[in-house]
Amino acid sequence: MKIAVCGKGGVGKTTVSGTLARLLGREGVKVLAVDADPNHTLFLSLGISSEVAEQIVPLTENDELVQERTGMEAGRSFGGMFKLNPRVDDLAAKFGVPAPDNVTLLVAGTVQIGGSGCMCPAGALLKALIRHLIVGSGEAFVMDMEAGIENLGRGTTRGMDVLIIVVEPGRGSLTTVGRIQKLASDIGVDRVVAVANKVTDEQDQKVIEAVLHERRIPLLGVIPFDKSLHRAGLLGKAPLDYAPESPAVEALTGILKELQSMF
Ligand SMILES: Nc1ncnc2c1ncn2[C@@H]1O[C@H](COP(=O)(O)OP(=O)(O)OP(=O)(O)O)[C@@H](O)[C@H]1O
Ligand SMILES: [Mg+2]
Repeated sequence: MKIAVCGKGGVGKTTVSGTLARLLGREGVKVLAVDADPNHTLFLSLGISSEVAEQIVPLTENDELVQERTGMEAGRSFGGMFKLNPRVDDLAAKFGVPAPDNVTLLVAGTVQIGGSGCMCPAGALLKALIRHLIVGSGEAFVMDMEAGIENLGRGTTRGMDVLIIVVEPGRGSLTTVGRIQKLASDIGVDRVVAVANKVTDEQDQKVIEAVLHERRIPLLGVIPFDKSLHRAGLLGKAPLDYAPESPAVEALTGILKELQSMF
């Protein structure tokens, strides 16, 4: 299963991806959690310490690696030839950081992209990683994406089995849903589902349900606004470590079941 998690800024993408990754790992699935946000914080919701996280160099910022794999200097964007299909199969083993519950974190990083597509070596490496990383049986790939939709259209999500849009009760977040859905269909990701987060009451839920229904996007589950999750975020702790019995974690457990029933 290859899962990408996207949505507007601050809706809870990192919370959802990190927690789902660990819950999957607890079921004996070997999970590769990929952080594709340049401001990488997935380590927090996975329960990796800041001391360990500080040592991590995102793949696309590892100039030596980018050059070794693509045959061109990382900073160059044109005027040279580089391999569009660099070798990526060993990256998780070489650069992955162990997290609890059978999860490995790989901080991919991202690249400054403009125009119609990313024509730079670091971008080629990242795309190859996401497209060609083979997920065997008993393995899963969960990707926490950058806020918004910029990096969606540039090929990073091609090859994903399912795209989860995290939405919160807010117009901005709900407006983004349509754009994400369109991009997903443009790039050939057929399965788009949603998770509602930070829901405070039934009315919130109804508004979200109506928007999703209109767009025929299945709602996998509803995570309530949960003070203990808010506090976990404030303290930099993983929800599964700080509030394992919370209603939010319970909701996420149900969401994983729904997701698994799709496959
Ligand atoms: N259900 C919830 N109830 C209360 N607080 C929550 C809930 N879900 C997430 N949060 C809090 O909201 C904040 C944003 O969450 P998170 O970092 O997961 O969002 P994000 O979408 O990844 O943000 P960004 O766009 O910055 O990457 C965090 O402080 C987190 O603890
Ligand atoms: Mg995030």
